[in-house]
Amino acid sequence: MTHYSTFLADVVYYPLNDFGPAMKGMIIGGLGIFHVFIAQFAIGGGLLMCYFQWLAMTNREPHARQFLDGFYRVLVMISFVVGAVTGVAMWFTSIQISPVTIGLMIDQFHWLWATEWTFFCLEVGAGYAFYRYAKHLNDKARLTLLVFYAAAAWMSLFWINGILAFQLTPGGWHEDNSALWAGFFNPTFFPTLLFRTVTCMVIASLAACVVINAMPGLQREDRRRLILRCAHFMVTIVLMPVFGLWFLAMIPADSRSWVMGGSITMTMFANIAIGATLLIGGYAVIGLFMQRLYINGATATLLLALAFGATAGGEFVREGVRKPFTIRKELYSNSITAKNHDDPTAKGSVAYLRKHGSVSADPYPVRNAEKYPNDQIVLGEKVFRFQCSICHTMKGANGLEHLTGAWDEDMLRKNIAKLQQLKTFMPPFSGTPTELEALVQRILWSSEGEPDTWEPTDDPAVLASIQKWLDEAGTAPGWPKSLAKSK
Ligand code: HEC
Repeated sequence: MTHYSTFLADVVYYPLNDFGPAMKGMIIGGLGIFHVFIAQFAIGGGLLMCYFQWLAMTNREPHARQFLDGFYRVLVMISFVVGAVTGVAMWFTSIQISPVTIGLMIDQFHWLWATEWTFFCLEVGAGYAFYRYAKHLNDKARLTLLVFYAAAAWMSLFWINGILAFQLTPGGWHEDNSALWAGFFNPTFFPTLLFRTVTCMVIASLAACVVINAMPGLQREDRRRLILRCAHFMVTIVLMPVFGLWFLAMIPADSRSWVMGGSITMTMFANIAIGATLLIGGYAVIGLFMQRLYINGATATLLLALAFGATAGGEFVREGVRKPFTIRKELYSNSITAKNHDDPTAKGSVAYLRKHGSVSADPYPVRNAEKYPNDQIVLGEKVFRFQCSICHTMKGANGLEHLTGAWDEDMLRKNIAKLQQLKTFMPPFSGTPTELEALVQRILWSSEGEPDTWEPTDDPAVLASIQKWLDEAGTAPGWPKSLAKSK
């Protein structure tokens, strides 16, 4: 029997926060990129420290211990403090922006998330013990602690990666919402896990080059030797294209088409990320590994910044190609379910909301309702908040005022009624014709400079044409005709 998550069965309203000129999706994306970068540094750092401890124990590198002492301070400070603060901030923003998505994911992956947390505890415990007691421990005990630290950090990646990859490619979970492991070990699980592991190693070794340059009391030759050791770690970057292409091969055809030119923003971000990675890779492989060049603090910092840029571009694309879904074919970014979309009796379906209204049961009042000239505009604001504000603002980032500034009334009506066809990375409009008309008036009122008075509209002929356009567009997600075969 197919089991549906309760989060997909009904529409649930939450008090969403508004972040001014930044659209909501951007807030979570921006913070996410920062957090991912720090977390990947922590994981790669653990692996790198194991390597240096081994170099110290086997007398391969006389300054390995000195490096470890300097590096783990940076690692612990950054990963424990900044990593933990941004990690909690992720939860905090998720519940303010996308409570239904995060709710569904917790509902499904509760115990896996708890498992991740136990590894996180182990990571913090081992890391702290090393920080506090490494000086008094013998080599074997130091290595054991570091191996615990690194393995636990990597395992936390293992668990969270499955949950994140699930959002774009839910795999067998799509057919059966109780198939937990099919959702976890989904088609992009392994390519993303391996890709991220390499990313972790590259970021950590670049950060290590910065630290090596800042360490006092070392001769240039000593620094060079340490840096070349880091370069051994960095050359894993040559595996990135393999895992990247594997990932690209496993993602859905429509998502792939965004990266391959379908959405120029996505394509450009992807190319910038690839370009930045190539530059780092070139420096690591040719400069450091083959020509045994030196890398000074400034260059290392620049390369690290480039790695941040590459991570930002990559994460932006990974999140972006999922549109219009937060969980593919199950849940739209605006928390409306994609499942049973044409069943008018299924609460929360597009067909149901088109009949009964998307915000008629939304108990949260519109902020500063008194600034709007009439009730229709207030209703329009509510519809905008519920259905569009995750990806749009009115005047700021991806602002509807900019996007529709030159459109006339009927263009607005028709295009919003056929939203999923206008751009297939938008969900279908999921409300009544009255709500759609209210949204149109809300946008026009804004475009006209928010005058004090605004005449409400209620022409039945207009509502009838909106209904006709909604019916023509249907309730299914939009799909480019050229991709029909791969549906
Ligand atoms: C999943 C995210 C998402 C949601 C939800 C969403 N949009 Fe969009 N929309 C986008 C993106 C991305 C663009 C492209 C902007 C660009 O091309 O620069 C866009 C473009 C548009 C455009 C311009 C289209 C064009 O061809 O010029 C309009 C109009 C629009 N959206 C209206 C809406 C309305 C109204 C809603 C709510 C009912 C909505 N969108 C919901 C992501 C979304």
